[in-house]
Amino acid sequence: MQILITGGTGLIGRQLCKALLAEGHELTVLSRNPASVPVKCGAAVHALGSLAEWRPDMTFDAVINLAGEPIIDKSWTAQRKQALWASRVTLTEELVRRIAAANHKPTVLLSGSAVGYYGNRGDVMLDEAADAGKDFAAQLCKAWEDAARVAESVGVRVCLLRTAPVLSNDGGLLGRMLPPFRLGLGARLGDGKQWMSWVHMQDYVAMVLRLLHDPDAAGPYNMAAPQPVTNAEFTATLAAALHRPALFVAPALLLELSMGERASLLLEGQRALPGKMAAAQYRFAFTNLADALRDLLGK
Ligand SMILES: NC(=O)c1ccc[n+]([C@@H]2O[C@H](COP(=O)([O-])OP(=O)(O)OC[C@H]3O[C@@H](n4cnc5c(N)ncnc54)[C@H](OP(=O)(O)O)[C@@H]3O)[C@@H](O)[C@H]2O)c1
Repeated sequence: MQILITGGTGLIGRQLCKALLAEGHELTVLSRNPASVPVKCGAAVHALGSLAEWRPDMTFDAVINLAGEPIIDKSWTAQRKQALWASRVTLTEELVRRIAAANHKPTVLLSGSAVGYYGNRGDVMLDEAADAGKDFAAQLCKAWEDAARVAESVGVRVCLLRTAPVLSNDGGLLGRMLPPFRLGLGARLGDGKQWMSWVHMQDYVAMVLRLLHDPDAAGPYNMAAPQPVTNAEFTATLAAALHRPALFVAPALLLELSMGERASLLLEGQRALPGKMAAAQYRFAFTNLADALRDLLGK
């Protein structure tokens, strides 16, 4: 297949490119820095510097849409919120316009979202039928999904990847957590009762491939392992995997004062379950957090 990937240079995109190249697909990655694409994604991968370069005579059989400014790195000023919105919602609207205008339309669009779609729901177990939350991150995901779903009106199969924090030995959540935890400075966040869904990169990539190839797959998918944990459990499990103590607590008030609204990403959570993946008989390689961490930290 000819596949267009936005955000293909990112943490998930790079692993996905590797897996798709191994299946023999021809890849094009949209990047603001097209020269970096062959370096990050593979020498054989083509680059598009902007969606305006997608001419109607270019053929893509599938589109995977992962682009987005990092959500946790910087303070959520009005300007930052606009950048988070534009890099996901506005970009997806433009992408869908290009899909609709293409002479040869892709059969499938796999488009990004996050378990943050559900907002802060305490202990409620969330499958794909649950409603969207009301906070900024939830409304961002909802608008991102709504923009992607417009492609259904031109006959494209659309899957929405409600992604849990992806555990990888190459950055992301673990990349941020490992330095303090390795020094024995790991800390529970607030009361530690907030749920943390997670997924091992290997399962994430395998699930994306499944959704790409399964003609019956459509709509939202919780891209999360079946055993989410609380923050306290995550903290203890990571510390144990590193043979370090985790005796500290980062007080909620301190996080709120230093991070503002963005602290909700750390102090609130979702207990998301992969209902539709389970129904599709997907067999997770990693269902248990300790096993996933042992695998990643051993590499
Ligand atoms: N990793 C996770 O745990 C996780 C969890 C939930 C949801 N997600 C979502 O899944 C997607 C992929 O995640 P990731 O961890 O691979 O992200 P990442 O490493 O931050 O990569 C995102 C990619 O998006 C592109 N991008 C960033 N800002 C952009 C902008 N202003 N305009 C256009 N493109 C821009 C970048 O490509 P160029 O620099 O090449 O342009 C970058 O490689 C993201 O949208 C993220 O929100 C990830």
